[in-house]
Amino acid sequence: MHFTLADLVTDITQNAVEADAELVELEVSENDKEFRFLVKDNGKGMTEEELKRAIDPFVTDGIKHPNRKVGLGLPFLIQTAGQSGGGWDIKSEKGKGTTVAAWFDSGNVDIPPVGDIPGMFRSILMFNGKAEIIIRRKKTEDEYEIIKSELVDAIGNLEDASSLVMLGDYLRGLEE
Ligand SMILES: Nc1ncnc2c1ncn2[C@@H]1O[C@H](COP(=O)(O)OP(=O)(O)O)[C@@H](O)[C@H]1O
Ligand SMILES: [Mg+2]
Repeated sequence: MHFTLADLVTDITQNAVEADAELVELEVSENDKEFRFLVKDNGKGMTEEELKRAIDPFVTDGIKHPNRKVGLGLPFLIQTAGQSGGGWDIKSEKGKGTTVAAWFDSGNVDIPPVGDIPGMFRSILMFNGKAEIIIRRKKTEDEYEIIKSELVDAIGNLEDASSLVMLGDYLRGLEE
């Protein structure tokens, strides 16, 4: 299977936006030891029972995303983190929100490739939904923050072709 850590982060962040959150905070940190991310939302949250189902690999049905390249979802995140010497932590409270964190050991032979980080941020910023999105990116010698509402103020809605190009250039510039 060919998937990247960026695919995983995108998928988990999509869950947060789809949970009707007003605010989604994403942190993506990377150094020579590990890749780590955290997605925190104040959306609908899950009961203990709902969370149990959400992380159960045998419950996922493939109906909602029949065309995506891998199953992804929470069970897949958990499996991937476990296989590559990492870990995960999910906390959720019904009506309050959810926080999903996972980390991956950079030195492990089974860690998936990181993938296209600026491309990932662009996809995330373009998700439909009312959520304000705050992205914090931390690297060994650099860090930056992206706030969706500020980007929209600066370059207009993120849907037309020219703002898409601008957004892509801007995000790649931040990452360099
Ligand atoms: N951040 C979240 N907030 C609330 N519910 C969530 C969140 N993440 C996952 N869930 C619940 O877990 C279910 C399974 O998530 P996932 O494995 O990503 O599959 P899918 O998104 O295709 O339904 C979701 O349908 C949703 O009910
Ligand atoms: Mg999902």
